Amino acid sequence: SETNKPVDTRLIKICKLLEKHISYYNWVGFYFRNGGKEELILGPYIGEPTDHTVIPFGKGICGQVAVSNENFVVPDVSAQDNYIACSITVKAEIVIPIFVNGENIGQIDIDSNTPDPFTEADERFLEFVCEKVAGIL
Ligand code: SME
Repeated sequence: SETNKPVDTRLIKICKLLEKHISYYNWVGFYFRNGGKEELILGPYIGEPTDHTVIPFGKGICGQVAVSNENFVVPDVSAQDNYIACSITVKAEIVIPIFVNGENIGQIDIDSNTPDPFTEADERFLEFVCEKVAGIL
């Protein structure tokens, strides 16, 4: 899909705020469905650059959320077999889908260098963030 500069500027600010203020959020980014294709495209993010700018539906934690429409909390990435490693420092991951008119159009993806850091409070908070993001897309 086409880039939308004003929206991307706001999304990068959200990434920066989350990474700055929550110590165990070490890589924060957005992936969006690529139009009608069954793949995700990396959007705005903060943290180490990743080679995984395109992720097919079903592949990795992100690709699984694209098809499940459910939050995916991974306390220990080394225990996952369908996982795409972006950095060897990452210990845990959380992915929350973004819905627009009931449709899963993307997700927020957060990697942590801390083992098992995510609680239900993170899920509720990030669902709230994703609802706000859906409202500006
Ligand atoms: N770990 C993700 C890939 C994206 S990176 O974390 C930025 C996954 O398994 O889908």
